[in-house]
Amino acid sequence: MAKHTVVTMPGDGIGNQVLPEALRVLQAVGFDAEYVHADIGWECWRREGNALPQRTIDLLARHKLGLFGAITSKPKKEAEAELSPELKGKGYSYFSPIVTMRQRFHLDTCIRPCVSFPGNPLNFIRKRTDGGFEEPFVNVVVFRQNTEGLYAGVEWTNPPDQVRMALATHPKFKPFTETPGPDLAISVRIITRSAAHKICRAAFEWAKRYGYKSVTICEKPNVLRDTSGMMEDEAKAVARQYPDIALRSTNIDAQTMWLTKNPEDYGVVVASNLFGDVISDAFAGLIGGLGFAASGNIGDEVAVFEPTHGSAPKYAELDPPIVNPIAMFLSAAMMLDHVGETAKAGRIRAAIAAVVKEGKVRTYDMMRTPGGAKAISQGAASTVQMTDAVLAKLALSSGLAESHAELAEVSSSK
Ligand code: NAI
Ligand code: MG
Repeated sequence: MAKHTVVTMPGDGIGNQVLPEALRVLQAVGFDAEYVHADIGWECWRREGNALPQRTIDLLARHKLGLFGAITSKPKKEAEAELSPELKGKGYSYFSPIVTMRQRFHLDTCIRPCVSFPGNPLNFIRKRTDGGFEEPFVNVVVFRQNTEGLYAGVEWTNPPDQVRMALATHPKFKPFTETPGPDLAISVRIITRSAAHKICRAAFEWAKRYGYKSVTICEKPNVLRDTSGMMEDEAKAVARQYPDIALRSTNIDAQTMWLTKNPEDYGVVVASNLFGDVISDAFAGLIGGLGFAASGNIGDEVAVFEPTHGSAPKYAELDPPIVNPIAMFLSAAMMLDHVGETAKAGRIRAAIAAVVKEGKVRTYDMMRTPGGAKAISQGAASTVQMTDAVLAKLALSSGLAESHAELAEVSSSK
């Protein structure tokens, strides 16, 4: 029996292209795992009226470890229009399966590392005052609260009377009292103290474990006094227990401006759900964009790893596939770290680093050429060629490891 069981959820679009490539990489490092396929995404919604079927929930509950590709999500009206005719008008509503999965399994800690690989032509560069350029080394890990905030899903268009009445008790609601129901959309930003505390604690623990000098809480407490205020209060409370790690505080808007000025000043960044989503994409832009952005959704029992990117439908039908599988590989490496296979994770990252540094094999995004059918003829590597390049580096490193072991044996026998 394999040591680990991983529930694989390729999902939609390019999820089906990058996830199988990650399995080749996991096999190459000798990860002792069995893989169980699970359905998720748009086709499930269209055919079953549920993008996250119960059978997938059951598999995750049982095996507790998931590797996820990407899903397609569409606004309410389009989702209803694409539902199978026999399901239409039967009261099905579309919910994002990834958001549902995070909430169902309390995957409340989302970790999104944004670390630059030297030699990546997409790395952020900065102009020096003498006219030259420099490339700051970005080494940021964003901790995003994953289940609450504006993504908690408590929203209405045309809110019911009780909701309107409750809102009317707040003086700031006065300007909206006359707005007709159908013209009024409301989302509630919910932050609980325990979740705020937990994400801040996770951020500081990470900083301590990996030697980061600071944790930055990135919110907007001057305007969102209650919700961002609670996040900030908990960050301060946690920080008192980590005297060697500095707590910095930035506002989400200013942070998106500053991050290009001095990205090397940031280590661990912690934020509520929407702000964490925004700021992690912003930092990812400095290290190569969506082709390099990995993430882990961690709960007390279940953990699911996924690239940050979506299903990129415009490239999903291309044959051969052209998208960059590195974000998916880095997500798989995070999964290895999570289950304690840190040496294997390190080998994957080293192999990716070697391919990027060498610069011979680059997917279209790394060449700054437009994606599309012509990408390959313009010199871009395909998804599979990128995997092959990483596998070749892995083979080399295992060959080196073997020859080191042989040398050690020879010298110890002398
Ligand atoms: P997206 O991330 O799918 O793609 C945006 C663009 O980024 C692509 O058109 C492509 O140019 C580039 N890109 C993305 N992944 C890439 C890769 N691996 N290699 C190279 N280039 C890459 O976001 P978009 O277009 O906004 O959304 C498409 C669908 O994905 C939507 O239905 C959206 O709801 C869904 N989505 C799902 C997510 C998830 O599964 N966690 C996250 C984000 C979007
Ligand atoms: Mg996002």
